[in-house]
Amino acid sequence: MTLTVLGIESSCDDTSAAVVRRGSDGRGAILSNVVFGQADLHAGFGGVVPEIAARAHAERLDHCAEAALSRADVTLGGIDAIAVTAGPGLIGGVMAGVMFAKGLAAATLRPLIGVNHLAGHALTPRLTDGVGFPYLMLLASGGHCQFLLVEAADRFRRLGGTIDDAPGEAFDKVAKLLGLGQPGGPPVEEAARRGDPARFALPRPLLDRPGCDLSFSGLKTAVLRARDGALVDGALPAQARDDLCASFQRAVSETLAEKSRRALAEVAHLSPSCFAVAGGVAANTELREALGDVAGAVPMLAPPLALCTDNAAMIAWAGIERWDLGHRDGMDLGARPRWPL
Ligand code: KG4
Ligand code: ZN
Repeated sequence: MTLTVLGIESSCDDTSAAVVRRGSDGRGAILSNVVFGQADLHAGFGGVVPEIAARAHAERLDHCAEAALSRADVTLGGIDAIAVTAGPGLIGGVMAGVMFAKGLAAATLRPLIGVNHLAGHALTPRLTDGVGFPYLMLLASGGHCQFLLVEAADRFRRLGGTIDDAPGEAFDKVAKLLGLGQPGGPPVEEAARRGDPARFALPRPLLDRPGCDLSFSGLKTAVLRARDGALVDGALPAQARDDLCASFQRAVSETLAEKSRRALAEVAHLSPSCFAVAGGVAANTELREALGDVAGAVPMLAPPLALCTDNAAMIAWAGIERWDLGHRDGMDLGARPRWPL
């Protein structure tokens, strides 16, 4: 049966609405995926300000949903269900999305489906490539870092994750320490291209411990120390900055690659269909190459970047998968700041 779902996402600093249709062949087609970013609103604050984010979501969700319907050339009457991120995330933004979705569901008499944002990321490879269960997923973004064995659309086994910062957060903090712009991933990667990754000896956190847990806050502190040691007359020479970026990026890539090797070994007996990466950090070329090397015989899959970062198409798709399993929510759907998979 064909199913057309409107997805709503507002858990961090992107307001997004999308229309996804699942055809009779079971495959998903993205009819629209509109993202209103808020980077400009938070630029002066050195991070996302929850109150500003929540207000912007509340102000923009209706325009965003209108744009998604119009681009998909679908009217509200043509929507079968409304899927919305119900957590985890910044609670004001999640509430804005859930309230908006409830209003739409009530007005259109369509079912409401609450989606876990992390499940949205984790199920994206099924939307883009139709992969089968089980598969291994590394989610590496500004807010999350975990290895998941995706066993079913509502069954995820967490193999490990960060015990402090997420890797994107580390890229952002390192960029700040070195006077580069935000978000920090792209400028650090750019500087690293001109740098020597062997110049600074930075730690490979938690490699001495068994398992797949990760830690990035010590690495950031090591970058701070290395920076202070490389100052010349109180300023950091451009070459030292580039070398530090290259050394930091190498440390992150090697650490994530080694932990990925362990995660793959842990699930090898289950013959995972692929090793998928998602999250903004998966845009990093050196990291992708390092992960591709350890994946070995397991096909590595990196969905297009627009579907790796926060977007509502993944929420609409996760809603479709939940629908297929018989999950529906009512007007008592709550917004959850924390919601482990
Ligand atoms: O998934 P995402 O768009 O948002 C969430 O955190 O949910 O990820 C954003 C993060 C930021 O921390 C950004 O610095 C990082 O992804 N990032 C990168 C690159 N592009 C974005 N990190 C490393 N290399 C990149 N090329
Ligand atoms: Zn996310």
